[in-house]
This record gives sequence, C-alpha cells and structure tokens, in this order.
Amino acid sequence: MGKNIVFVPECHSTNTLASELCQKSSVAEGTLVITDNQVSGRGQRGNLWVSAPGTNLTFSLVLKPSLSLADQFYLTIVTSLALHDLLSHMEIAEVKIKWPNDILTNEKKICGILIENSVSGNKIQHSIVGIGLNVNQQSFELATATSVAIQTNKTHALEETLHALLEKIEVRYLALRAGKKEELKRDYLHALYRRGEQHRFITAEGLLEGTMTDVSESGQLMVTTSRGTQLFNLKEISFADK
Ligand code: BTN
Repeated sequence: MGKNIVFVPECHSTNTLASELCQKSSVAEGTLVITDNQVSGRGQRGNLWVSAPGTNLTFSLVLKPSLSLADQFYLTIVTSLALHDLLSHMEIAEVKIKWPNDILTNEKKICGILIENSVSGNKIQHSIVGIGLNVNQQSFELATATSVAIQTNKTHALEETLHALLEKIEVRYLALRAGKKEELKRDYLHALYRRGEQHRFITAEGLLEGTMTDVSESGQLMVTTSRGTQLFNLKEISFADK
C-alpha cells in the first residue's frame, strides 16, 4: 500500500481523481492518491465530505482484489477494521464501526469511508477506497464530528498517521486475499456499534424496534424484532435515536 503515490496539493475529490487515473492508464495496486485540500469531497448517500485543508487525511487507494461481486462487502469490512485497529492502537476510547462503515469514538464520527467499485461481469476490476480521517482538526460545524487530536488532546504527524494506517489496511487486506473471511467477519461484528442492543430504527414502513444481530454476506443489516428477522440496505434504515 502506498508504494506508488500521486500527491496533488488540491483537488475536487481523491476518489474522482483516482477513478480518472484508472480510466486513462493502468494503475498499480495499492496506488495512493492524496491531497492536502479536497474541495468537493464526496461522502455516502450523496453527502459532501468537508475537511479543513492541511489538517486531516483525505486520500484514496486503488485496490485490485480479484473478488467476486458477491464478496464486495469484504472491502468495507477490511477498511473499517483497519481504521478500528489504528484508532484503538492510538488509545482512542470506545472505537466502534457504525454499519456499514462510519468510524465512531465516544459516539462521534472520526472517519468516513467511501468505496467505489468498478465491476465487469461478476468480478471487481478495481476498487477505489476513499478515506477521510479527521486527525488534527480542532472544531467542526457538525456537533457529531470529532478528530484524533480532540480525542487524544495532542496533534499528530499526518505522515506518520498515514503510514501506520496503510500498514493496518495492508494486514487486513492480505487476510482477505488469504481467504480469512470468517475471521474478518467475526472481528467486524465484534466492533459493530450497538450490536446486540435493543433500539428503535426508522424504516420505509415506519418505526421499528429491534436488535441488530448480524450483517449478511452482501452487507445488509440484519435486525431481529418480535416479528422475526429483516434485512436492510443502506438507504432503507437509520437509527431513530442517533
Ligand atoms: C462518508 O462518511 O460519508 C464517507 C466520506 C468519505 C470521504 C473520503 S475523503 C477521501 C475520499 N475522496 C472523496 O471524495 N471521499 C473520500
């Protein structure tokens, strides 16, 4: 990871830039596309990702995992677990993965992940793994956001943090390539925010009270209620009490 680096001082979105590079030429696996100032960062559900210039990590990695489409959720598992590994190692308290891949500490979001796959037939051609990790930003417009610096009461060298994260991603990614899917899934479920707890959810059919019990192989959230177990895609469910 990161042996091949494309650095630009400013860009719209490192995911978009990485995707353009992949369309133009052959890009080596593990290529890192990184910027100091991402001006139109893209988030999940069409949201924007806003990051103060020069203070955080905003980058994308190009992966070529030779995975079938059915296994694409394992890239989400690999990436979110690597972030979980890194932040727990930095002694940040209560690090959890909020399904599918928001990284929380003390219930606040410290990192967002946007994975975009290029698919041919039922195979993933390449995957662009975009990561926005709030490292040194001291204040946020959103009360639900936080950073490593806020949580640890000190600033952190961005380059060092990046290298440590790339190492963690590589370890989890190699586990996937070695076929250790069960182990990855087990660790992911273990780190899942509010798993096993009774909560209220907002769904298309209205309020639902139930317990997040599992995640299906394709990444759907499994919620068990008094009426049985239901599966949900990303846009179909959210917590009623955030
Ligand atoms: C989210 O939580 O909504 C996902 C945010 C992902 C942000 C990162 S920053 C680097 C990469 N480039 C983008 O445009 N988005 C991702």
